[in-house]
Amino acid sequence: MINKQNLFIFLSFFITSQTLLAENVKYYPHTFMWGAAFSAHQADGAFGGGENGDWYEFEHSLINGVSPIQHGNTADRATDHWHRYSEDYEWAQKLGLNSLRTSLAWEKIEPSFGVFSEDVIQHYRGQFQNMIARGIKPMIALHHFTHPKWFHEKGGWLNPESPKWFLEYASFVVKHLGDLCDLWITFNEPMILVVMGYLKAEIPPLMKSIDASYEASFNMARAHRMVAYHIHQVQGDSPNGRGSDGTLRGVSFVNSLQIYDPLNPNNPNDVRAAKWVTKINNWDFLRGVETGILKFDLLPELMLGKSFERAMPQEDLPPWAQKGPFMDWIGVNYYNRWFIKYNFFNLLKVEWLVPDGIKGDNGYALYPEGLEQVLRQTHTEFPKYPLIVSENGLADGEDSRRPDFIKNHLLFLDKALFGNAQNLPLDILGYYHWSLMDNFEWLHGYLYRFGLLEIQYDNDLKRVPRPSYFVYLKEIQKRKE
Ligand code: BGC
Repeated sequence: MINKQNLFIFLSFFITSQTLLAENVKYYPHTFMWGAAFSAHQADGAFGGGENGDWYEFEHSLINGVSPIQHGNTADRATDHWHRYSEDYEWAQKLGLNSLRTSLAWEKIEPSFGVFSEDVIQHYRGQFQNMIARGIKPMIALHHFTHPKWFHEKGGWLNPESPKWFLEYASFVVKHLGDLCDLWITFNEPMILVVMGYLKAEIPPLMKSIDASYEASFNMARAHRMVAYHIHQVQGDSPNGRGSDGTLRGVSFVNSLQIYDPLNPNNPNDVRAAKWVTKINNWDFLRGVETGILKFDLLPELMLGKSFERAMPQEDLPPWAQKGPFMDWIGVNYYNRWFIKYNFFNLLKVEWLVPDGIKGDNGYALYPEGLEQVLRQTHTEFPKYPLIVSENGLADGEDSRRPDFIKNHLLFLDKALFGNAQNLPLDILGYYHWSLMDNFEWLHGYLYRFGLLEIQYDNDLKRVPRPSYFVYLKEIQKRKE
């Protein structure tokens, strides 16, 4: 419906995008990673042992008589990337991508505690060999939200031994895939897992406790440091996040880093609340990994619980490794902007509001300038590290907004990469669009479509490129010399 406010928003968006599009694009370094991302559970299907995982169990359960997943969907078949990976990599190759970000299913590789599957690791080898033969560099996440069932039976991330179990799994993977991959993510969005899985009981392991969420964050931060150290031992360091050929290399993790602005910038309480939300959501876990002391401060007036501060055990790492490096670069998963309003009567004292304007199908507010802002904020907080945009995308089943979404976000990526008279150029090594193809969108099942490729679920999972696929292709070409 077009009311006055919507018309204004529409016009200003139109004017902004026209001005932006008129600017000249400079060439990106030839080493820049142009990529797309997806994850094992969301794309593969349960083939190869998915039934050993926590999400499989969750998707097949009923909570108060109802499936926890929208429309009762499961990821049993997902996009069948497990069998159709070659077709998907061909689409990626035609798009001009030189990297793809994906993940491994821990539950398939280590279906029982200490028992590793040769077949599954061989399957992954075939997958990555195919990718590499097409000139596409794999970026592999060891963990993207899912776990083996045995892991939770043993206490999951609350067990102080859990970092050791994760290290054992990671060591097995690096031993078997290390000749094919030198670009690793330990965790995708650890704070999202902690908040949804341990604080709000929305996803496995369905816990609702502030103490549990602190404990899980702590053990995940320890696990990251131990695995990063191991990978550096086996594969060597990656100074400035690069290998000898100048391309992105090494190990780190990727974070959900969003823009949290005060609803009313003239209201000191809104400003304070927005700063607090930014710190606790965006920076605290990163800082903990970097320094070895994990610290979460709650707003002083919050009655919910206590703040947290704890140093990671020295015994986790040998004495010479205590200072890292633990991150060769920082991964930024950027999607949207929130307005933060202070509300004394709210349990958390803060309200999250969605700004007006154009939105994704899932209600996220589009804010392309936020990409440059969040990259600059990350650089200010952690100036030592190169950055990558490890996810950026839009739920848009009709593909009516994604073409402009891509163009406009890339214009702000240009601004961040090249800088201007007021702002320094940033060291950014890659951009990965989420997602190469539609896939299983967690609690929302197949409702939201993030793909450059449409998956026709009722037509034998046919892959069909959307107009935005060709827009991304053109935008990449424009930036290559
Ligand atoms: C997650 C993906 C998810 C995407 C879109 C990211 O936060 O890493 O798994 O599909 O957002 O919601």
